[in-house]
Amino acid sequence: MSKLYKIAVLPGDGIGKEIVPEAIKVLKRIGELYDLEFAFEEAPIGGAAIDSVGKALPESTLALCQKSDAVLLGAVGGPKWDFLPAPERPEAAALLPLRKGLGLFANLRPVSVFPALVGASTLKPDVITGVDLIVFRELTGGLYFGEKSRRPLDSGEEAIDTLVYTTPEIERIARLAFEAARKRRKKVTSVDKANVLESSRLWRETVTRLATEYPDVELEHMYVDNCAMQLIRYPKQFDVIVTENMFGDILTDEAAMLTGSIGMLASASLGGQVALYEPSHGSAPDIAGQKKANPLATILSAAMMLRYSFNREAEAQAIEKAVVAVLDEGYRTPDLMEQGMKAVNTEEMGNLVTQKLR
Ligand code: IPM
Ligand code: MG
Repeated sequence: MSKLYKIAVLPGDGIGKEIVPEAIKVLKRIGELYDLEFAFEEAPIGGAAIDSVGKALPESTLALCQKSDAVLLGAVGGPKWDFLPAPERPEAAALLPLRKGLGLFANLRPVSVFPALVGASTLKPDVITGVDLIVFRELTGGLYFGEKSRRPLDSGEEAIDTLVYTTPEIERIARLAFEAARKRRKKVTSVDKANVLESSRLWRETVTRLATEYPDVELEHMYVDNCAMQLIRYPKQFDVIVTENMFGDILTDEAAMLTGSIGMLASASLGGQVALYEPSHGSAPDIAGQKKANPLATILSAAMMLRYSFNREAEAQAIEKAVVAVLDEGYRTPDLMEQGMKAVNTEEMGNLVTQKLR
């Protein structure tokens, strides 16, 4: 009897509804090839949930996630819901409470440059060839979750966001980064703004103290502004980057462009009982419904699910190899298109990867 893996499927909004089915297709084929059984159960989230049940994160959706073995998420948000007050919009009312509710404090975003896509990047080939880094972004603290307020002033208004970190919050994400580095090239770059921010000074002290437990791993500290520069100047210097929530959000969009497109950037959010897998990009309302979206970030997120939630390394690699093979053959969604390559739509890309699985 093969084990049954229960996967909560939350397509969400915009291109989320187009890319998630492609990842499911790939997982189903993996199930056939490797004798694994997946049970997929879909639930509404984001704008789609606001429209259908009046709430961006319905209790039933969170409950389904909690009793599943893993969660596959598309994306949330779109112009249709932008009229809502900020705290009720899909991003703030669905994605952030879902991350918090599942205790997902660690967001892993691997950035590796596929040789076939070197030409698709806006950066020079010699800068990006061979880049293989992973960002550990803290996901349930910092400015995203600190107290927020507004108050009137004589001259307009005052708006406050608070940036809070505690020692245990820093330790647990840094520990995961050190552990990961041990299995890689043994280097951690901790990114902060310790020349200005008190929370960054605590971050730096805490990471430095923890590093004594990992003498085999090299630790380097870098200011976030410098890191933004180094990522496009000489990205090969990085192995594991660990940073707080907001810095990680910004740096991973930048790092995604090393791979040619944010449509390539997968992610895994870990730390709780159930992990969540989602592409790092958003719902892309500008291209939604046009079959233009690149499903590879979601498909690669499904590979991360096999690796981190189900401990199925061979199956994860089978997906990654299939993606490489399809790209090597020249198939490209519009975001990656270059002269001489073969243009395909979302569904065709999903089918190609599925057919390549071994
Ligand atoms: C991401 C996204 C989200 C974030 C948004 C949609 C709230 O940009 O996952 O990187 O900032 O975390
Ligand atoms: Mg982001």
